[in-house]
Amino acid sequence: MKQVRFGVVGAAGSMAGAHQGYFEKIDGLEYVAACDISEDVLKPVAEKYGVKAWTDPEAMIKSGEIDAVLIACPHYDHPRYCRAAFDAGVHVLCEKPVAVTALEAAATDAHYENAKKTNGNLLYAAMFNQRTNPAWKVIKRLCSDGSVGELMRVSWTISSWFRSQTYYNSGGWRATWAGEGGGVLLNQCPHNLDLLCWFVGSPSRVTANVSLGKYHDIEVEDDVTAILEFPNGATGTFVTTTGQAPGINRLEIVGTDGTIISDGHRGEAVTFYRAGQSVPEFCATTSQRFGEPAFEESQIKPAKEQGSEHERITRNFVETILAGGGQDDLIAPGTEGIKGLELGNAMLMSGLTQTPVDIPTDRQAYAELLDDLKNKSTFKKPEAKDAGAADMAGSFSS
Ligand SMILES: NC(=O)c1ccc[n+]([C@@H]2O[C@H](COP(=O)([O-])OP(=O)(O)OC[C@H]3O[C@@H](n4cnc5c(N)ncnc54)[C@H](O)[C@@H]3O)[C@@H](O)[C@H]2O)c1
Repeated sequence: MKQVRFGVVGAAGSMAGAHQGYFEKIDGLEYVAACDISEDVLKPVAEKYGVKAWTDPEAMIKSGEIDAVLIACPHYDHPRYCRAAFDAGVHVLCEKPVAVTALEAAATDAHYENAKKTNGNLLYAAMFNQRTNPAWKVIKRLCSDGSVGELMRVSWTISSWFRSQTYYNSGGWRATWAGEGGGVLLNQCPHNLDLLCWFVGSPSRVTANVSLGKYHDIEVEDDVTAILEFPNGATGTFVTTTGQAPGINRLEIVGTDGTIISDGHRGEAVTFYRAGQSVPEFCATTSQRFGEPAFEESQIKPAKEQGSEHERITRNFVETILAGGGQDDLIAPGTEGIKGLELGNAMLMSGLTQTPVDIPTDRQAYAELLDDLKNKSTFKKPEAKDAGAADMAGSFSS
């Protein structure tokens, strides 16, 4: 294969618009098919890119006319299009979150593993674009190469996802149990929850305080404070909201051999304190009463990279298909999407039931809790007023 024939589901949407804007920069990506259930808005998109227009995603996926599909419609429909693509032998690049519940994500993963039995090269990637951010790559390296040592504590305050009421009123599906299945944990934080698990692994228990519609007229969560417990006894906190400004994006990872601090906005220097001696060892052996171990401080300036974060994920996906590579060659394998998703599900479940929740969660119980919220909902969304053109850059930047 020299060219990957690409189809997009949700092609007339905001995010798909941002993706389509860089497609021509990716060698080997041949954009051939745009699909959206909304025919009126699809037509100008298909005309703009000179591609075939489809209103039935499964028909496009099964047509034999595409090799890969980018799924960029609202989240609830991600799993069924992923599975249809696996059945048709079509490679998948799925927007975050890969599903609304860990139960659905696990079913998609099982479907994928089954499809791979007959099509070993089939790829399943996820659009966790922040994994390509140079600052987060530095942190991933420090966590993976032993520099930090064993995890002692992680703390992330990510309140720079501010959203207005106008944002929530737009797009009928947003910020409803039936349309989106959650709020800040499902829409904005999938990036941070994915990164957290990517850096330090999944917590084993979560206790959370979750507020529904605290700062907005919405029925889902817009404020979360969670306590995390890890299998090795390390602890952590995760704090997020879409209702406070100015936003804070401060991540601290404390290990036995080093501490990482990332403060401010993404892309800035990462501060790393390397301990001259393991901190627990110093604690146990020093003859001093108040002294601390010596630390070497470094400001690691991440290298600049070409193209947008999203473009880098899509480029890696296309290059891996063309090289006949496997899941290990992907920056963000879709099968890893369940980790951050399950952590978000656990936070919501803990907050709503006011009890600690173990991970892996009782996935069936969470799905039933969400069904109950959908079925009992009486919420009416405020009417959307013309919000003007969306600046998608503001959607990614946290
Ligand atoms: N990676 C990122 O940085 C990022 C940023 C924003 C949004 N997203 C993700 O992209 C997805 C879409 O978000 P958006 O903001 O573009 O939404 P949107 O409402 O702007 O666009 C969604 C589009 O999907 C279409 N659609 C709805 N149901 C469909 C279906 N069943 N089949 C085909 N088309 C369908 C709609 O008509 C609409 O054109 C979400 O899952 C969101 O989480 C990711």
